[in-house]
Amino acid sequence: MGRLPDKLRKRLVDREKTNALRSLPKEIQGIDFSSNDYLGIAKNRIVFEKAKAILSDKEIFNNGATGSRLLTGNGSIFSEAEKLLREFHKADSALIFNSGYDANIGLFSSVPQRDDTILYDEFIHASIRDGINMSNARSYKFNHNDLEDLYAQILRVEHNGGSNKNREIYIVTESVFSMDGDSPDLKAILDLCRKYQCHLIVDEAHAIGVLGSNGNGRVQELELQEGIFARIITFGKALGCHGAAILGSEDLNKYLINFARSFIYTTGLPPHSLATIIAAYKFLTSPGGLVQRDLLHENIAYFNEEIERLGISSSFIPSYSAIHSCIIKGNNEVKKVAQKFKNNSFDIRPILSPTVPEGKERLRFCLHSFNSKEDICTILEQLAQEIN
Ligand SMILES: Cc1ncc(COP(=O)(O)O)c(C=O)c1O
Repeated sequence: MGRLPDKLRKRLVDREKTNALRSLPKEIQGIDFSSNDYLGIAKNRIVFEKAKAILSDKEIFNNGATGSRLLTGNGSIFSEAEKLLREFHKADSALIFNSGYDANIGLFSSVPQRDDTILYDEFIHASIRDGINMSNARSYKFNHNDLEDLYAQILRVEHNGGSNKNREIYIVTESVFSMDGDSPDLKAILDLCRKYQCHLIVDEAHAIGVLGSNGNGRVQELELQEGIFARIITFGKALGCHGAAILGSEDLNKYLINFARSFIYTTGLPPHSLATIIAAYKFLTSPGGLVQRDLLHENIAYFNEEIERLGISSSFIPSYSAIHSCIIKGNNEVKKVAQKFKNNSFDIRPILSPTVPEGKERLRFCLHSFNSKEDICTILEQLAQEIN
């Protein structure tokens, strides 16, 4: 085998020294408080059987897409899934990408141009950051969920832009932040965008399936869809399967098909992925889906009541989503607490720096429809003993 260059080995050693070395976990064991499968759809037998039935009804027996969607990889099942997404999410167009990562790098690397500016919340997901880094536009972060800072930055960009009429401003946020579980004031951000003619892009990865009627997301819950330039929705979280889509205008759709390199230069999703996406959406809108969403929201409310009762709410970032983060400073410290939970058969993950800023290391609890109240109560009582 070829030898890893010394400078790369040194990077690994540095990670080890800060107790931040990543490695693949063994088979997941313990009660799930860490997966993104908020509604239990990833293991839902009804959805699995429905996806199989969709494929056999259509007599689709292909294992793979066979090429890029622009070449041989675009079966009619893509059109069916995209039609469903357009209707469900009240969007003029929906374009399916292989993952949320691909959707974000495709969008941000191709849409903002050299004269343009991207203003992004400092806590946006790595996939958006990577897309921004691939773009030729200028980019600046604003303080997390801080409208005043965003406003000041818009004014600064406006001022510096002078008479250049050829420049656009893109503002990027998430409707539920993946590491903090909190949400921005989307309506106020959209008002700012309207006033200063900025384009608002919202990543809804952790809101789809959880928020909004039938789980259609935070943007639709607030009825803001008409004003949003692009929404990123992903299927690997509450939908329990895989893939993502960008919702927007028909022109944006046409543009991405022509210029988003992560859409163009890759093999399309296989038919069974599309069938699973369709089946998962059908489940979301069924009585069974409603039951799971209600159970999830009961658990979110119960979790918040319990952290109040136990006097530990000040260690948590306030959240009404499925993600609840308890700050425990230091990689060593947070790893130690997570290990204790693991020994007690709970799967709760420590989130280490540099994934989050130093001093903001945390235990990240992901709540699900299938978590029992007893388990929630037990973990929080154990946590209270650790941190009090
Ligand atoms: C906010 C956000 N956007 C995008 C992604 C990427 O989605 P996917 O897992 O489908 O690549 C994630 C996944 O962690 C995410 O949390």
